[in-house]
Amino acid sequence: MKALILSGGKGTRLRPLTYSGAKQLVPVANRPILFYCIDNIVKAGISDIGIIISPETGQEIKEAIGDGGRWNAKITYILQEAPAGLAHAVKVARPYLKSSPFVMYLGDNLIGRDILKFVGDFTKKKSDALILLKEVENPRQFGVAEITKSGSIIRLIEKPENPPSNLALVGVYIFSPMIHKAIDRIKPSSRGELEITDAIQELILMGRSVKSCILDSWWLDTGKKDDLLTANAIVLDQWGKKNIEGTIDRSSKILGRVTVGGNSIIKSSTIRGPVVIGENTIVENSFVGPHTSIGDDVRIINSSVEHSVIMNGSEVLDIERLDDSLIGRRVRITKNSGHKALRLMLGDDSVMEV
Ligand code: G1P
Repeated sequence: MKALILSGGKGTRLRPLTYSGAKQLVPVANRPILFYCIDNIVKAGISDIGIIISPETGQEIKEAIGDGGRWNAKITYILQEAPAGLAHAVKVARPYLKSSPFVMYLGDNLIGRDILKFVGDFTKKKSDALILLKEVENPRQFGVAEITKSGSIIRLIEKPENPPSNLALVGVYIFSPMIHKAIDRIKPSSRGELEITDAIQELILMGRSVKSCILDSWWLDTGKKDDLLTANAIVLDQWGKKNIEGTIDRSSKILGRVTVGGNSIIKSSTIRGPVVIGENTIVENSFVGPHTSIGDDVRIINSSVEHSVIMNGSEVLDIERLDDSLIGRRVRITKNSGHKALRLMLGDDSVMEV
């Protein structure tokens, strides 16, 4: 069994962060989302992993992941020249996949459980595809499955206007090499892409065996700000640990599961976990509340921050309350005492609520 991780795409829904970086590298609890995908694949016993990259962000992804040694895995990078769809990515990866069955994992999807059981089910039942489904509130934004009462799939539709159910296709699939035949038979969708959903539907029409499982854990497609903050909160809740490597002065309080990285200094502050703080960061005279991830080289001074992600090199100075915020790299947020007016320099597609 091999694995194929899709890590191309433009990340339009996470702009402006994705102007300067790949969406799959946006951190959740201070680790790129993509790292959790690799963890999960390796835990399922798969160590031969192909990663689809785009010309825009491929280099950055290669630098973050390297040769896979950190996971004892062998990584092969595969360039997809244009974002022509998920099934197109599989087509591009054909010389790598050869006749191997494979797990396909979308690099911006996070799920709350391992996939070992699904890989086992797929192999035992000798299926051509195994898909994971999850009930969602907004099925129009996903691929959707119509299934019978006993759970067999009737049909699959990509982003339907009138969804036949609220069961969305999770971005983790397992395929036999038969998927390549199905991909050869489909045409681009109305959004101009070769859809993997259409290819699986084609497998059904070809009379091949397509199985589904309902995912019994949380699932987050981290494409948007609020999804990302939710993912951050869930991952901190579930996997956050107490681990202090930095320095905490005597007048500070550390409550609950808090990680503080090497060379970081916490002075006259309260940190209420679950919280993760990276390396070389200073928190002074401040409060950091639950579900917050603060990266490396950050300064939080005379401020209060909660339920937020603050990435490397940013500063929050004299801010009474910063909640539910996603702050990119090297951002500076300060109070302009003495001025009533807001004074801003925001990049394209920034969002501010004042
Ligand atoms: C893709 C798939 C869709 C699936 C979703 C899961 O959508 O096309 O069927 O439900 O991933 O994240 P996209 O992220 O390309 O809009």
